[in-house]
Amino acid sequence: MISTDISQAIRILQGEGIIGLPTETVYGLAGNIFSEKAIRQIYEVKQRPHFNPLIVHLKSAGDLEKVARDISQQAQDLAEAFWPGPLTLVLKKQPHIPDSITAGKDTVAVRVPNHPTALALLEQLDFPLAAPSANPFSTISPTSAQHVAQYFGDRIPMVLDGGACKRGIESTIIGFDEHGPVLYRHGSLALAEIERIIGPIRIKNTNNQSPEAPGMLLKHYSPKTKFILTDQPIEVLENLSDQKIGLITFHTPINHSAVIRCEVLSEQANLEEAASRLYAVMHRLDSLELDVIVAERMPNDGLGLSINDRMQRASF
Ligand code: TXA
Ligand code: MG
Repeated sequence: MISTDISQAIRILQGEGIIGLPTETVYGLAGNIFSEKAIRQIYEVKQRPHFNPLIVHLKSAGDLEKVARDISQQAQDLAEAFWPGPLTLVLKKQPHIPDSITAGKDTVAVRVPNHPTALALLEQLDFPLAAPSANPFSTISPTSAQHVAQYFGDRIPMVLDGGACKRGIESTIIGFDEHGPVLYRHGSLALAEIERIIGPIRIKNTNNQSPEAPGMLLKHYSPKTKFILTDQPIEVLENLSDQKIGLITFHTPINHSAVIRCEVLSEQANLEEAASRLYAVMHRLDSLELDVIVAERMPNDGLGLSINDRMQRASF
């Protein structure tokens, strides 16, 4: 079921099936955007609510006008600067893009993934791929083919193996309204890098179910194990000392008798490395039958914002 056979993946996708797809951010659950059957399977397998639209994955920025219209100069500049890469743009959709992809909205979310296997696959298909992250609704996103296989088993015919995801957190999502660019989701492209190209970006309050960013639920990315995010891990450990604890720290391990396992995200205090390891660490700790996972908050800067966003949602 886990396989590197691109030809097999193509056969499944052309036959309106769905597969686990490697990207640089997280694994996706991918199908032909024009196949109602494939799209229905994506929603069913993922148990995703139908109000939550999907991201369209293109082989290159040159295909953007096939799915989106009224593309502003700012959107074009971003596509040029960051594609292929972990940036999703929400743009007005072309009329033939199915409502099932966009949840009936007039906009479509698009990106070009920066992963050699995904690009080789898209290159050989004559349709784009819709792909949400390949995890059941509200659980931790997958950053390896094994994570996807553990979630879905034989409910999907194949996970195309592209190794561990280099970025490890979902793409950053930018949309546009009458006042200019808006951030819908923090992600693995730091906001400051995007602002360097198009200037200041407003941040939507994504802690509610807003109609513009329907997927940004407060509870998301959640392990089965209780999850606590804190600036003061040592104090929290003291108060929970009768429990079996898994600990996540930024760069320095903390020794404490209640800690069964401590995972350091980046000994070099590098936020890129920390982001790339976050979900794998959460998956690992969640499999240890612990009472609680305690996580140290990252600096609120650069990718630290994205990591904190995910850990905050995991704690609800
Ligand atoms: O890195 C990623 O973006 C991964 C990989 C597989 O590409 N995909 C991903 O998909 O994270 P998903 O479905 O888990 O998250 C997509 C988010 C959802 O929150 C959804 O609501 C939002 O994008 N979205 C999709 N279409 C939208 C639209 N037209 N307007 C606003 N938000 C949209
Ligand atoms: Mg997701």
